Order: sequence, then structure tokens, then C-alpha cells
Amino acid sequence: MLQSKIDQLINAIQVASPANAKEVELFRQQYLGRNGDIQNLFEEFKTVPPAEKKTLGKALNDLKNLAETKYASLKDNVGEEASHQEVDLTLPVIPNKLGNLHPLTLTRNRIIEIFERLGFNVEDGQEIEDDWHNFSALNFPDNHPAREMQDTFFIQKNPDILLRTHTSNVQIRLMNKKKPPVRSIMPGRVYRNEAISARAHCFFHQVEGLYVDTHVSFADLKQTLFHFAKEMFGKDTKIRLRPSFFPFTEPSAEIDISCLICHGKGCNVCKHSGWVEIAGSGMVHPNVLRNGGVDPEEFTGFAFGMGIERVTMLRYGINDLRLFSENDVRFLKQFRAVM
Ligand code: DAH
Repeated sequence: MLQSKIDQLINAIQVASPANAKEVELFRQQYLGRNGDIQNLFEEFKTVPPAEKKTLGKALNDLKNLAETKYASLKDNVGEEASHQEVDLTLPVIPNKLGNLHPLTLTRNRIIEIFERLGFNVEDGQEIEDDWHNFSALNFPDNHPAREMQDTFFIQKNPDILLRTHTSNVQIRLMNKKKPPVRSIMPGRVYRNEAISARAHCFFHQVEGLYVDTHVSFADLKQTLFHFAKEMFGKDTKIRLRPSFFPFTEPSAEIDISCLICHGKGCNVCKHSGWVEIAGSGMVHPNVLRNGGVDPEEFTGFAFGMGIERVTMLRYGINDLRLFSENDVRFLKQFRAVM
């Protein structure tokens, strides 16, 4: 009787194939639990005649071992299955969507890189400025038409506080802060009250340059900007200096580079002149040095101001200023960063 029950259980245990953790637990309860089938047979074993005890006892122990071994291996397998589900190595990877730098940032970084190698350091300035640093200290006379060269945004109808119209404001702050030699570039955002179009915007970016020391000459200015143009636009680039006027420099010059598109033959970009303007420049006016606390008898300096949008448009062949601030990813993702 007991022997046949043992045989039945051996069979049942051998064919059992629980599919998941829950079924494995049911297997354990049914065969190995405190009131499970095997325990019941051990109860029954107490009543068998002594002559059969030896064989049946061994058979029962074998049965229990069988159930325990099977249970142990079932548990291991279910555990493995679960961990396989957590990390499915066959799934495609989650794409890592890296952004890229804005073309203006790429150009600014390149400008900084070129001037840093010439020994210029980078200075920061403020966008909300007073009349003194943006105009008066830069030799813009009161009520002089020169002020109207740059349409200004004033803050809260206070004519003394404004959004800077150029990065030249940092020249004064820098000279007040530091004795010559000063050799710095000052990149930043500037604002003008202009109607937005393909060629004008109410905010844009400039890099100001200032070099003040003993014996700084116009030749230094010319050679520095010539070097810059070749580094930025290629070694065959030529520059041309055109006489100009800025209140804060004397003499003043506009810097043109040979047109990158037509190489001087004449095209739409250079308006058929073969030259495109990239910067204003000049020798720092003695009044400006004085306003910066620098003695013009002892020191001279050159300065320049360059439009970052302008340089970027030439560099990448972009023809509309508005693209820079519209944040259209179809435009932005074309500039894979070579940082
Ligand atoms: N501040 C001028 C502008 O915004 C550009 C400029 C011209 C800067 C000549 C200079 C300079 O430092 O010397 O149009």
C-alpha cells in the first residue's frame, strides 16, 4: 500500500513542471510542506509492520530527497528567468540624443581660441548698462548725432539705464579695473531698437577687442586682424582697411575681408564689390583712455568690435539673421560641433 503511494508520488514529482515562481511554491507546499504529501506518508510509515520498515523507510527517504533536489533546481531556474527578463540584451539600444552647440557659440569659441593664442584673455561685461559706460565715457558727446548711430532700448523710461548697444562698454570697465597692459577680448550680447529682418535684429552678438600698452601702433592693429582673418576664414584671405568714424577711436577704420564666396570677382554676398565688412576698429581715442583711468601720454591702444552673427554667416553661408534666434532644430542640427 505505502509502496504504491510512494511510486505514484515519484512519478508525479518527476513529471511536474511548474512554469513560474508561484507554481514552484505550490510544488513545495504540495510535496514538501508541513502537511504535504510526503509528510503524510511519513505519518503513515509509523503504522507499517516492523519487517517492512527498513525497505519502506529507505524508499520514503529517497522520495524526500528527490522532491528536495527537484525543488532546489526549479527555484534556481525560475530565478534565472526573472533576471533574464530584467535585462533583455536583444532589445535595440535606447538612442542617446546628444545636442550640439549653437553656430554662434561655435564661432565665438573659435574667435576666442584664435585670440587666446595671441595672448588675449576673455573678459565678461554687463548687458544692463548706464549712459556713462555705453556712451559718454566712449566719447559720445551729449546730444550729438553719434548717439543716434545706435538706436537704444532704455530701461523703464530712465534715460540713464539702458541695454548696451555694443560691447564697447566693457572697455571702460576693464581699464578702470586693471592697469595696462590690457589685452582682452569681450564677447557678449548687445541690443538695438531695430525692426527685425534678414539683415537686422534687435539683439545680436559682438566681440570687442582691446589692447592697451606702451607703443601699441596701428600696424599692430592691422597685423592682429590680418592674422585673425586668415585663421578664421583661410590662409588666402585678404583684408582691407577703410577710413571710418567712431567717437571712441581716432583714426578709425572699417575692416573688410576678401569675399569668400566669389574670391573678389563680385557676387550678391559682397554686393559685387569683392569685399565684406567684418569689424569696426581704430586707435583708442585719448579721451577714452583718460575716462578709463589710463594716461594717454604714456599708453596707446587699439580696439575693434566684430559682429559674431556676421562672421558666422560668412563662415557657414547663412543668409538670414533670424535663423539664429528661431530655434528651429532643422537649422540647428546642421552644425555638428567640432569643439
Ligand atoms: N562699437 C562699434 C559698433 O557697435 C564697433 C566698434 C568699432 C568697436 C570700432 C570698437 C572700435 O572697439 O574700435 O558698431
